[in-house]
Amino acid sequence: MISKNNLVENICCVGAGYVGGPTMAVIADKCPEIKVSVVDINEERIKAWNDDNLDNLPIYEPGLVEVVKRSRNRNLFFTSDVDNCIKNADMVFISVNTPIKSAGLGALQASDLKWVEVCARRIGAISKGHTIVVEKSTLPVRTAEIIKEILEATTKSAKKNGEEKTFSVLSNPEFLAEGTAVNDLFNPDRVLIGGEDEVAIEKLKSIYLKWVPNKKILCTSLWSSELSKLTANAFLAQRISSINSVSAICEATGANIQEVAKAVGLDSRIGNKFLNAGPGFGGSCFKKDILNLVYLCRYFDLDEVADYWEQIVHINNWQQNRIYEKIVDKLFRNLSGKKIAILGFAFKANTNDTRESPAIQIASNLLEEGSILQIHDPKVSWDQIFNSLSTYYETNKLDKSNINNWTLENSVESAVNNADAVLILTEWDIYRDINWEKISNSMREPSWVFDTRLITDPRKVRDAGLNLWRLGEMESCKDGTFGLS
Ligand code: NAD
Ligand code: UGA
Repeated sequence: MISKNNLVENICCVGAGYVGGPTMAVIADKCPEIKVSVVDINEERIKAWNDDNLDNLPIYEPGLVEVVKRSRNRNLFFTSDVDNCIKNADMVFISVNTPIKSAGLGALQASDLKWVEVCARRIGAISKGHTIVVEKSTLPVRTAEIIKEILEATTKSAKKNGEEKTFSVLSNPEFLAEGTAVNDLFNPDRVLIGGEDEVAIEKLKSIYLKWVPNKKILCTSLWSSELSKLTANAFLAQRISSINSVSAICEATGANIQEVAKAVGLDSRIGNKFLNAGPGFGGSCFKKDILNLVYLCRYFDLDEVADYWEQIVHINNWQQNRIYEKIVDKLFRNLSGKKIAILGFAFKANTNDTRESPAIQIASNLLEEGSILQIHDPKVSWDQIFNSLSTYYETNKLDKSNINNWTLENSVESAVNNADAVLILTEWDIYRDINWEKISNSMREPSWVFDTRLITDPRKVRDAGLNLWRLGEMESCKDGTFGLS
């Protein structure tokens, strides 16, 4: 319900996940006059957000603890009391999960909107007076239409009971990246607001204007806003698949992927960001958002366009697969009983998120070959690895005989103990400074290091007597640095 003075005073965010939590913490930090309640049906998650020990927040993000500390229980609240918070809010953000549908029409491509619909129905049923509903989740184009229809149905039934209930729907997609979420929220490249209701747009804009310059706030139609979010993710993922495809050409020709990326990125039209070759993109969004775009294209009979975008996901799977095949090849095409140290399970550094991490597919393939995995990651828990592998095995209907042949180690040293190979999958800083001399003494010979993130010093690894394979470099190039500084 909008207050008498017409300012937003009470925000409710439905979904206390990787987006809802940090985004609302920053809004609360920058707008102490607004009460911000983050609600979730997952009580464990809410409990963790309220934990006295801030190290136990459910999400690891550099800088997040400080932001939460400043505003929690001042004007930032985490609660499972969904209905009460919706009822008192004049602006409700929908920040729930929108994964790929696992069954039915559009299975494995279309977004599953069941959580969004539940949310919209709850907002419709519970809210009072005028409420601005903001899509923060990433959604298929024209989802706002569905949300509006659901809300309008409740408007009509409220009228019959003599109650005045109205809604404005805005799209305000989130562009934060995990690992840099807090910084991205404090200094966004842009804030995108899509909508038709000028007054509602101004109200949302006034919140961001507390810390974001006006010129960085872009207002568009609802549909442009929804499509821009999918397109931005598709473009970013496209760059990674492009550079990863070139990494394979480098390995075959003797070119060096870091040199090529640098040379290409110096063209100001191309730019130097997002050109790090790696084991393939992970994270909860790139794959699902591209597949969602593909589904949308097919729905509108744009098959050529769908094929174009689908290839990005195909290259991403291929990259993960070829890394696994390389390891099998180097270890005499037999992994039975061999120990492999996996360094990094998160999909990128500085996050505890493992969703769609390349480590899941690669580790599963290695387990299937009979290897024993000794996994290390500074932030990922045993349960997360267990759940990720179980889901992957079930989805891909794999034989589970070897599924438990892994341990989570609490140091790099214990992970490499007696290992035949070390596989670096996440670019955590601690893996940049490994003492390879020391490590080599505890490995079984001949020992291999597979560096898929290009964070090793090739000379140090080889001087320690270890065999080294680096992504995007020809193996005969023993120096590996190619004069790069
Ligand atoms: P998440 O799974 O971490 O969090 C979603 C939360 O919503 C869960 O805790 C879930 O319990 C809760 N939820 C679901 N239905 C609910 C309901 N009816 N009532 C209350 N709570 C409910 O997901 P996320 O990573 O935060 O992503 C959320 C959305 O933001 C997705 O659409 C995603 O595509 C988009 N997005 C994510 C990122 C990212 O970096 N993770 C970045 C930009 C956009
Ligand atoms: C990505 C986008 O960067 C965000 O703008 C967007 O809001 C978010 O998705 C989303 O919609 O969920 P995120 O997935 O958190 O953010 O992290 P990225 O930094 O984009 O990395 C994604 C994957 O690409 C990671 O696995 C990362 O290791 C990989 N990557 C990234 C590379 O392999 N090379 C690069 O140069 C950059």
